[in-house]
Amino acid sequence: MARTNLARSMPRLSPTPAAPVVVSIGGSVLSTGTDDAEFLIRLADLLKGAGRERPLIVTTGGGRAAREYIDLGRKLGLTEVELDEIGIEVTRLHARLLAGRLGPPTPATPPPTVAEAVREVHRASPVVLGGTEPGHTTDGVAALAAVRLRAERLVNATRVPGLFDRDPGKDARATRIERIGFEEFKAIVDRESSDAAGQRFVFDRLGAAALARARIPLAIVDGRDLANLDRAIRGAAFDGTLVGGPGAPRSR
Ligand code: UTP
Repeated sequence: MARTNLARSMPRLSPTPAAPVVVSIGGSVLSTGTDDAEFLIRLADLLKGAGRERPLIVTTGGGRAAREYIDLGRKLGLTEVELDEIGIEVTRLHARLLAGRLGPPTPATPPPTVAEAVREVHRASPVVLGGTEPGHTTDGVAALAAVRLRAERLVNATRVPGLFDRDPGKDARATRIERIGFEEFKAIVDRESSDAAGQRFVFDRLGAAALARARIPLAIVDGRDLANLDRAIRGAAFDGTLVGGPGAPRSR
């Protein structure tokens, strides 16, 4: 009688991937004018590793380049919607740069919609996309992606190391808020951000409302500190602000 290799014939489950995560990378983190190529190479390596372990969607902002074109367009009398569309083009350009460095299976052309990114991510993680429609920012896109993907968390990699009680660029007494509830966060975003094309606040209104509604925690971290960004993506302790996570003040 032929001997069966039991270990080989037993049904096997493929390893369960970790829970989905979304990362929003500010344009001001992607292009600073200093060591951008080195940074993008290291960032792509980090995202490739994290994207192998879990479905990972990444959005890229437009930063300085988007604002320069938006300012120019504003002087030419373009409408706010047209300026938003210019911003979206720049965010998609950044997505193309990062996706190109990541290489297959990441789609080289950023998906035009959140729905398409969510469909793609289960076979091509990480998926990188830019903006989608006028009226919000790539933080909003990231939040909608997190909701559709049922993500465990959204990580906002930005140019400041968290949310501050006042603008740290203008006031040296500004202190970082370590934890905050969804409702209080939404109120701050509503107060501080604007609907104009090229707005500059750390997060946007659509994004804050979408995360609060779905109770998806948000980690706000300094995007240039890659070791810390990696910890936030993996759900380990990180340096920054946690919105709505365990231990965050209960929403009012
Ligand atoms: P960003 O996502 O870069 O936003 O989009 P931001 O907050 O201005 O800047 P950084 O990159 O985080 O520093 C740039 C602009 O593009 C338009 C908006 O005008 C936005 O301010 N945009 C972007 C949209 O209208 N819709 C989108 O989905 C994305």
